[in-house]
Parts: sequence; C-alpha cells; structure tokens
Amino acid sequence: MDKIRIRGGQQLTGTIPISGAKNAALPLMAASLLTDETLTLNNLPHLADIVTMANLLAQLGVKMHLNGHATEGGHAGRVFELTAGDVGETTAPYDLVRKMRASILVLGPLVARHGRAQVSLPGGCAIGTRPVDLHLKGLAQLGAEIELREGYVHATAPRGLTGAKIVFPMVSVGATENLMMAACLAEGETQLVNAAREPEIVDLATCLVAMGANIDGIGTDRLRIVGCRKLHGTTHMVVPDRIEIGTFAMAAAITRGDLELVGARLDLIGAVVEALTQAGVRVQETERGLRVSRAADDLVGVDVMTEPYPGFPTDMQAQMMALMTTASGAAMITETIFENRFMHVPELARMGASINVHGASAMVRGVPRLTGAPVMATDLRASVSLVLAGLAAEGDTILNRVYHLDRGYEQLVEKLAACGAEIERLKA
Ligand code: UD1
Repeated sequence: MDKIRIRGGQQLTGTIPISGAKNAALPLMAASLLTDETLTLNNLPHLADIVTMANLLAQLGVKMHLNGHATEGGHAGRVFELTAGDVGETTAPYDLVRKMRASILVLGPLVARHGRAQVSLPGGCAIGTRPVDLHLKGLAQLGAEIELREGYVHATAPRGLTGAKIVFPMVSVGATENLMMAACLAEGETQLVNAAREPEIVDLATCLVAMGANIDGIGTDRLRIVGCRKLHGTTHMVVPDRIEIGTFAMAAAITRGDLELVGARLDLIGAVVEALTQAGVRVQETERGLRVSRAADDLVGVDVMTEPYPGFPTDMQAQMMALMTTASGAAMITETIFENRFMHVPELARMGASINVHGASAMVRGVPRLTGAPVMATDLRASVSLVLAGLAAEGDTILNRVYHLDRGYEQLVEKLAACGAEIERLKA
C-alpha cells in the first residue's frame, strides 16, 4: 500500500486550484438515472469515489463518456456524459455498495423511474453506524413497498410514486437528496420538511430544475417538489468543493503560509471562515477566489461545534482539530453529527498533541510544536488532518492507508508540493 512522507516546517505559498465537490458530484451522477437523455457534468473531480459511482452506474446500464477538460474559472475539471437510456438492471450489488455508502443514492432515482430497485444495505463505517432508515421511511411515504431481505433493500412501486409530506426527524444530507430526486418523478406534490440545505443539495436541486423538475424552496429547509412524468438532459457545472477549500485554508494557517485558493467561494464556507478569523487567520476575497494567510503571529484557541449547514461542517472537524493543536490556549471541539468521529485524536497525540476526549467533545490544549511520526488514519477527513499536522510538525511524518485520501482529495500531494510543501507519495 502506498504511503505519504511529509517533512514538516515549510511555509506554503502560491496558488491551489479547487476541484469540483465530491459530495455534489456523487448525487449528480445518480441523477442521470432519472432521464433517458444525456446528463453532462462539467468540473467533475477525478477521485476513487467517483470511479466507484461510475462502476455502479455502468452496472446499471448507464453509458458514460469522459470528454476532456472544462477550464471555466481557470481550473480544469473533467466533462462527463452520462446516458441512462435503457437501464434494464436495477440491482446495486454488495460488492460495489460496500465500497461507498453514497451508493444508496441510486435507490430513489431507480424506484421513481423504473418502479423497482434492489440496493445492498450499506454497512456501518469507521465514523459510526450511519443507518439509512430516513431514506427508506421517506420512500415508503412516497408509496414504495420496502422489504429488507438477505442484506438488500427491495423497493417496488409498480404504479409509480405519489407525492407526500415528509417531515425529517433529523437533518440528513443523503436522505434529502434521495427523496428530492425520487419526488421529481412522483405524481403530485412532495414537501420535504427539515430538509438538509448543504451547498451540494442546492447544486443537485439546480441541476434537477435544469432537467425539467419543479422545485421550490431551494436553499431552505423546506423543499416543495411537484413531480413530472419525464425529465430531460442538461449540462451542469459541479459546485467547488467547500471541504477542499476549508482544508487548504487550514494548510495555509497551520504553516504560517499564504495561499490563493482559485475557484474558492466565501459563501460556501461561512462558518469555517468565522472560526478561522477568530483564531487569527485572514481570509480575503480575490478576483479568482480566496486568499488565506495569518493575521496574527500566534493562533488562538477557538471552540467549535459541528452542525448541519450553515453550521460548522463535520467534514472539517478533524482539520480544525489539527489546527488547534498548535494554537495558544485551549479549544473545545464538539461533534454532534457522527458518534464516533474522533479517531484522529490518538494519532494526533502520537505527534505530540494534547487532546482529552469527553463524550462528544474534545478539549485541545495547544502545544508549541508537533513532531513527525508514523501515523495511520481510519477515514478521509481524519487522514487529511494528519497531513495538516505533518506539514506543521518538526521532522518526518509517514502517513499510511493513503487510499482514504484518494477517495476525496484530487491531486493532494501535487497541489501541496506546488506550494512548497516537502511531501511525496511512496509507492508500495
Ligand atoms: C453526507 C456526506 C458526508 C458528511 C455528511 C454530514 C456525502 C456523499 N457524504 O453523508 O461527507 O459527513 O453528509 O454532513 O454527501 N442518519 C440516520 N438515518 C438516515 C440517514 C442519516 O440516522 O437514514 C444520521 C447519520 O447516522 C448521521 C446524521 O444522520 O448521524 C447525518 O447523516 P447524513 O447527513 O445522512 O450523512 P450522509 O448523507 O451519509
């Protein structure tokens, strides 16, 4: 297995292009199942999770074509055409679903268009049990019959889905996406109340509207969808990855660097910028994106709590913790979305960080310096938090299990190295 070696202590300066968002691209790809016409996605990131979704869609009969690069906004991204013309197969098998939980996003579109779907139930994952009950209950409310047999969800709606009012007991990004897509082809009106409103959901809704869907309330927690019989193809540009923006902003902050993040948008990362500003980091808008540098010599500890958008994202919690390990004073970091998302703590501690976990909160006490160490990560964001710590640490850090990073960060090593980081990928 490949490893990454980082020699810490370099200040990062220069520009980093921001890729399209993985978490927007995955549901957008699934949305191609809603129409027999071609959906063209621009600015698609090149990531392992995207390949997994493409393999799943290929299995379902979707024809795909990679078509060069779009350069709008000055950064490259793939152009991907997806045509779900004659989808005969409606089974998402275990071997593909177990690789990536977001595979469940094919369920709503398949049932809505074909009246049936069999999708392997995603199992638990490193950051918690992560059930899909809200997806299934919502589909049942839209009239699908749901059975769980031999590890698979069997959903059927031979006469199609019917609109309904669905009130989510908790905010779920995936359930909102799945049900919004299904409702587009249901008969009549669907209301999604207490819906998630992450930028990736806005991006998906915008694309669905361009495909002919009727959706009101985009960007709010109450979506109203009036179903139609057929959707058509369109061309859509994937929104920039706000988690990548936030991660590189922290890379600038932790190395006392100065980075311009090309394609980054302030409106996507308000809560992260607020925390960074309080900590002593300067974030300025530029013509091409955002510039991030230190405003103060020393960082100060800031408390953050993860919440659904527009709150502080859980996908930035590990990176914020890495940053806070080097701040002066203490920072209380509270995780409210996932029950087991502190697995980076013992690894950061191996690099000299001082962190105490009490239930859902971690108390971080800043230390003057981190020291490099061999470390191992359990998930995508935990891995990148160790890269950030490695960039600031004295000496060498060797990161194992690099495949986690390949799932969600496009050209991470190359982007950081281009700004002066001493970082390299060691082939197995
Ligand atoms: C998405 C993101 C992930 C991010 C998360 C929260 C993608 C591909 N992934 O994951 O990176 O960390 O949002 O911002 O977009 N829950 C239930 N029942 C359900 C569904 C969810 O109890 O049926 C719970 C989950 O266990 C979790 C919480 O709801 O505690 C939020 O999960 P959700 O928003 O659904 O996350 P994902 O869509 O899986």
